[in-house]
Amino acid sequence: MQRVEAEIARLIDECDYDEVNRLFSMLQGGKRLRAKLILKIAPNHKDAPLLAAIVELIHAASLLHDDVIDDAKTRRGVASVNATDGSKIAVMLGDILYSKAFTELVLFDKDVAQTIASAVTALSKGEMMDVAMAESFNSDEEKYLDMLYLKTATLIEAAAKASALLAGKDVQKYAIYGRNLGLAFQIIDDILDITADEATLGKPAMNDYVEGKCTLPYIYLYKALDAKEKEKLLRLHAKKPTEDELLWMKKKMQEHKTIEKSFQLAKQLSAEAKAAVSEEEELVDILDTMIKRSY
Ligand code: IPE
Ligand code: IPE
Ligand code: MG
Ligand code: MG
Ligand code: MG
Repeated sequence: MQRVEAEIARLIDECDYDEVNRLFSMLQGGKRLRAKLILKIAPNHKDAPLLAAIVELIHAASLLHDDVIDDAKTRRGVASVNATDGSKIAVMLGDILYSKAFTELVLFDKDVAQTIASAVTALSKGEMMDVAMAESFNSDEEKYLDMLYLKTATLIEAAAKASALLAGKDVQKYAIYGRNLGLAFQIIDDILDITADEATLGKPAMNDYVEGKCTLPYIYLYKALDAKEKEKLLRLHAKKPTEDELLWMKKKMQEHKTIEKSFQLAKQLSAEAKAAVSEEEELVDILDTMIKRSY
């Protein structure tokens, strides 16, 4: 991972602008999940650390934009760039990271470059759908999972596919792994929004529903409630709840086990990912850590 960090630092330096260095140094590194995946799938390829650095820059850019979109004031345990320097700076820094990543990506084989680049289009479409779907309450689970695949799983799937291409491994197998890992990963993220606190998460907690995001625990809750309660949940959609309203939603989620149900789906997807790479201990470890994570 040190080589990935060194590549990231080099790419940022090459942007040749003090302001970019300053802003980037304020971002914390994060879990580096996507980089780990690439290093584990293509451990011996000389360009794996560079590919991992490119994907982490893309991911960081998507988070900069996501925090503007979600109006989030914290990220990775510190104030977000949109909070400290404003949304304009956050958007432009995101643009620089995206384009620097692409500048490096075009030096790779065409199939590797296309795999990663097309995932960024998918991710951006997913973010647009996420925002569009937040306009009103969405109780359609399939629609939600389709959006989540685009928003989060495609980049993780692409990281797995691209590193398999680099390493000359079975691309299909790693694609299945990456896709299911990515889907489970976002479902866990959605659960943690409800169950974890801001200090642990390093980003806002209980923010999704306020932002209008109807994640799986809310979709399952809606289905389980009676008509009057359904009405109440709809009234609370996309609003800042009072302490009582918050407690009510959490109590009802407990009563109807909607967090457990969501967690079961994440576990099932994780098992599908595991089945694709069952003999590769380190990739299985990534899955187990992902499922058990608290932030
Ligand atoms: C956050 O991704 C955005 C989602 C796709 C849920 P991570 O949880 O991987 O973020 P960092 O890189 O560890 O901060
Ligand atoms: C994932 O969605 C963001 C991206 C794929 C860029 P979220 O909005 O849930 O991510 P967090 O919770 O802010 O990290
Ligand atoms: Mg967000
Ligand atoms: Mg978002
Ligand atoms: Mg989230």
